[in-house]
Amino acid sequence: MASGPGAQMEDLDLFYQDVQNHNSRGLWTLGGDNLTTEPEPKALPFMWKWSEFRPLMYRASELVPVEMAERRVLVFANPGLAGKPSATSTLMANLQIINPGEIARSHRHTPSAFRVIVEGTGAYTTVEGEKTYMDEGDFITTPSWTWHDHGNEGDTPMVWLDGLDVPFVNMLEVGFYDQLETQAQNLTRADDMSLRLYGAGSMRPTWEHHQGLHSPLLNYKFQRAYEALKELAKDTEGSPYDGICLEYTNPQTGGPAMATIACFVQLLEPGRHTKAHRHTGGTIFHVIKGKGYSVIRGERFDWQAKDTFVVPSWAFHEHVAEDEAVLFSYNDSPLQQPFGLYREEAYEENGGHQLVTGAFAG
Ligand SMILES: [Fe+2]
Ligand SMILES: [Fe+2]
Repeated sequence: MASGPGAQMEDLDLFYQDVQNHNSRGLWTLGGDNLTTEPEPKALPFMWKWSEFRPLMYRASELVPVEMAERRVLVFANPGLAGKPSATSTLMANLQIINPGEIARSHRHTPSAFRVIVEGTGAYTTVEGEKTYMDEGDFITTPSWTWHDHGNEGDTPMVWLDGLDVPFVNMLEVGFYDQLETQAQNLTRADDMSLRLYGAGSMRPTWEHHQGLHSPLLNYKFQRAYEALKELAKDTEGSPYDGICLEYTNPQTGGPAMATIACFVQLLEPGRHTKAHRHTGGTIFHVIKGKGYSVIRGERFDWQAKDTFVVPSWAFHEHVAEDEAVLFSYNDSPLQQPFGLYREEAYEENGGHQLVTGAFAG
């Protein structure tokens, strides 16, 4: 038998075969799959247009009874993720529709979730015994393992965007799920109590001792966020990369609204063109209002109100507002920061703007 570096190929092949038969692999054979010089996200820059999804949602509301679906939801599946029901490798983005008179019964799960209201009025979410009515643009949290149900007491269907960290929780294999036999949970607090307790800016109720990793505030009203953004826009342009951008925080700690998901709302004044930058972790954007475009890795994505798009991890991106635009966005940076994994970098060439090499065609 040959030995040393000049070993016959058949010996090496036999060796690899034997290693594989023992459920093992030579680390040197794995190539770039194991360690990469920089992030190589599988998720693609992608956009789901409201003009296409609105009719699909209303068809779902006619064809699919909520009893059949538990939640009547269309999941955005990023085409880079091989059919997996996720928008990025760690986060989901879904549209949900609830008809007048319906109740989506109470359940709880270890993945955290939130919703941003897209269209409609008169529906509520109850979380841990507290009910809140939801208006367009509102951001409502249902943190990990909290009981939640929804109902529509209005006259028209209501649609919202759901964000969840299900892919992350499943990757860790820590998913639990539970549901109530009765449709709605009992109400144990006055409606919108958390908004009154914690929604007054920099003030905190002295007699409340909120425990837990998530925000005690259930509903972050859009109208308040919009007013705050507009007040700031009078005297500052905010960040060169994000415009006037505010993070939804846990009023108890100043940290992210949910332990695993950071959520933001940003205002881009008409004509604003931000400089390009990139950061680790995929980000999902949802257009609350306005019209404009974003350039992601050189590709132009024209968006308007209620569209949803993905900026993958470490992809350069910049935004242009044609009309006054308000974008909601979320990412998994709270999963990176405690471990020193979060990085950000400005695009230095060409005055901070990418060359546009193509346009998203869907
Ligand atoms: Fe849920
Ligand atoms: Fe960014």
